[in-house]
Amino acid sequence: MTTQAYRIDDQAIRSLANNVVAAPVLSTEKRSNLVAEVKKLILEKNAVLVAHYYTSSDMQMLAEESGGYVSDSLDMARFGNSHSASTIVVAGVKFMGETAKILNPEKTVLMPSLDAECSLDLSCPVDAFSDFCDQHPERTVVVYANTSAQVKARADWVVTSSIAVNVIKHLHQRGEKIIWGPDRYLGDYIQKQTNADMLLWQGSCIVHDEFKAKGIARLRQKYPDAAVLVHPESPREVIMQADVVGSTTALINAVSKMDNKTFIVATDNGIFYKMRQLAGNKRFIEAPTNGIGATCNSCAHCPWMEMNGLEALAETLKTGCNEITVDEKIRIKALRSVQRMIDFNPS
Ligand code: 13P
Ligand code: SF4
Repeated sequence: MTTQAYRIDDQAIRSLANNVVAAPVLSTEKRSNLVAEVKKLILEKNAVLVAHYYTSSDMQMLAEESGGYVSDSLDMARFGNSHSASTIVVAGVKFMGETAKILNPEKTVLMPSLDAECSLDLSCPVDAFSDFCDQHPERTVVVYANTSAQVKARADWVVTSSIAVNVIKHLHQRGEKIIWGPDRYLGDYIQKQTNADMLLWQGSCIVHDEFKAKGIARLRQKYPDAAVLVHPESPREVIMQADVVGSTTALINAVSKMDNKTFIVATDNGIFYKMRQLAGNKRFIEAPTNGIGATCNSCAHCPWMEMNGLEALAETLKTGCNEITVDEKIRIKALRSVQRMIDFNPS
């Protein structure tokens, strides 16, 4: 199979991740003052807070209590797009803020940090990816939302994990061959589900890449009644262990719907906040990575999501710093593929 000539520098990406400065831990008093301040600022500034399930419990709680929203990357985009607030504050990573801006040029889009990257986005520089696409002009270019605005502008479709299989199925049925980027594991999973002809970019998520199939198998023996929930950014052998494979929302829905009392979860552990809220009587076990204190780079938590702290959130609301901007020519091109994602209806 042809893959891209560009060599992804995994080491450089991992060392960037290792050097991320997480939001500081706050005293109880400081935390409660900031929570009150943020709620007030959200009202004053006609803003709405949209948070991802991987952000801290404070971000998720604040989004919910202030009339905002907590969800997966697709529904975050849909919610921000349909809300009347003049400012959208995105607690998540940069591609989520850029997607909000692509869809809402007339609104101000703010983030607690503009340095909240994503290893998939970093693995897919636009020039190298465009070269790859140019070598296969007959193929439809489908990219994961975890990419820059420039890469989205080069694509025909943008998808998230909640619709990726259905979109590729739809394109495959129309006889289209696909270029997929940047997540190789998600691409491999979609290819197996749909049988589509796909060329895969070779990026990966530093968090999901580290879940270990053998460790999950051992846990299964210890908890034979547990269901295994896996996000499809995980390696193939990990996905093979799964009872449910799906987007963050799909995994959260599974804990409510399934009768199991124990779940082994292979995705970022920020998701446990919502899972415990919905099914507090159930037990959630983090799928093993290399083990806390060992050599793992992420230990089941995205370092860039961890940058979303209360102090930074209050500061961006107060001063308007960390505003997301997207070059207008790029935005207009990217809107075409992003709008297809927003409008896609699997039926
Ligand atoms: P979801 O679209 O499932 O929320 O995933 C986004 C993401 O970055 C997962 O690592
Ligand atoms: Fe990117 Fe992985 Fe972090 Fe999601 S968890 S934002 S895919 S690095």
